[in-house]
Amino acid sequence: MDINRSENLVRKDKSILMHPFTRFSDWQEEIPLIIDRGSGCHLFDLEGKSYLDGTSSLWVNLLGHRHPKLDAALREQIDKMAHSTFLGLTHEGGILLAEEILDIAPDSLSRVFYSDNGSTAVEIALKIAFLSQNAHLSSPSSSTFLSLTCSYHGDTLGAVGIGGIERFHDMFRPMVRESLKSPAPDCYHCPLNLKRETCSIDCADIAVETMKTHRDSLCGFILEPLLQAAGGMIVWPEGYLGRVSKTAQELGIPLILDEVATGFGRTGTLFACQRENVSPDILCLGKGLTGGYLPLAATLFSEEIYRRLSKNPGIFYHGHSYTANPLAVSVSRATLRVLKEENPLGGVPEKEGIYRDFQARLNDLPRIGNDRHIGLVFAFDVFDPGDTKVPADSGVMNSIRMRAQKKGLIVRPLANTLYLIPPLTVTGKEFSAMCGILEESMRETFTTN
Ligand SMILES: Cc1ncc(COP(=O)(O)O)c(C=O)c1O
Repeated sequence: MDINRSENLVRKDKSILMHPFTRFSDWQEEIPLIIDRGSGCHLFDLEGKSYLDGTSSLWVNLLGHRHPKLDAALREQIDKMAHSTFLGLTHEGGILLAEEILDIAPDSLSRVFYSDNGSTAVEIALKIAFLSQNAHLSSPSSSTFLSLTCSYHGDTLGAVGIGGIERFHDMFRPMVRESLKSPAPDCYHCPLNLKRETCSIDCADIAVETMKTHRDSLCGFILEPLLQAAGGMIVWPEGYLGRVSKTAQELGIPLILDEVATGFGRTGTLFACQRENVSPDILCLGKGLTGGYLPLAATLFSEEIYRRLSKNPGIFYHGHSYTANPLAVSVSRATLRVLKEENPLGGVPEKEGIYRDFQARLNDLPRIGNDRHIGLVFAFDVFDPGDTKVPADSGVMNSIRMRAQKKGLIVRPLANTLYLIPPLTVTGKEFSAMCGILEESMRETFTTN
């Protein structure tokens, strides 16, 4: 253990770096974890202490760290070439990966445009929808998007405009073109004050009416299907996606599904939209596309959209230096092969059982509620003592997080929501350990806070 090395790094970090979504003052006070390496569902710090990766490194890792087949794919590619541009050139991996993604994607999609992160996949979707809706006109008439409250589609300005999380997005509103918003189907905080047991998913009618009213000015409806992750792990009631998608498509409004977080198995099926048999006009993919190894994203769209763009403008003025980076592409192809050959989704029911036991053990904790899960995404909320309408404050949430970290589990609360999103390959033993550490950390926190 080299304490001087750690201390030097921390000092340097604090004096020259800014970390995403991390309050400056909190970071200055925290003793940060310096991650050195990973293996399976574990990350290790510089001192060799191991931590379970309870967030899949922010929802990107699918198959664990250092998967031998993914490592091998990268090694093989590095011996050939690290990068060559995709502007006016192509490469075998990029071509074959596009074919492989289309093979597993909804049938409505037949074209792939690569970029390098989820936000850019979304920007591309917005631009393509805008161009396609206005391709037949000499001047654009449709330029507004419809999205949901609590939505998160990334941090670039187009994505911020359609985003609906006040604390992330409101400060940037003066800079962006804001979308129309329909209320998120969040049953615990029902926008219509209804009860799920007796409602008819009435919130879908608001989206439907908005689409009908604004049909001529809308160039797309963008949704995170079934799970609004950053917005608070909001799991939708069954039926909402199917209903609003049907209306969008009947009205000729491009349906854009952002599966950056939900894609590649996270919700229990390869893509979340498959659970309601929805085939979008545009699909955004990122995060798990490379198994969590390297930045790569893809925006998929329909042949009809391609046909319209081919006529006008006939070129897409958008691209990134690292579009279709061959290293990312090679590890992505390996990821898709492993998903197919090893079927990690087969383990979902076992994890659901472990989670149910965990929830049952928490029955004596009245400060916990709004329990929800879909596939390998498990979430619940923490409240003030004695009031399940008042969210626990950041001090409580941070105390749980830090206790868990000390005990060897990495979690990252979203406001008062705690969640576990393990890699798909997590073993039953590892997942039980994650639940156990979370339970202990909460019990300890609640005795003092
Ligand atoms: C649904 C969704 N879309 C887009 C993004 C943005 O992806 P990235 O962070 O790779 O830009 C995220 C990131 O969490 C996301 O959850």
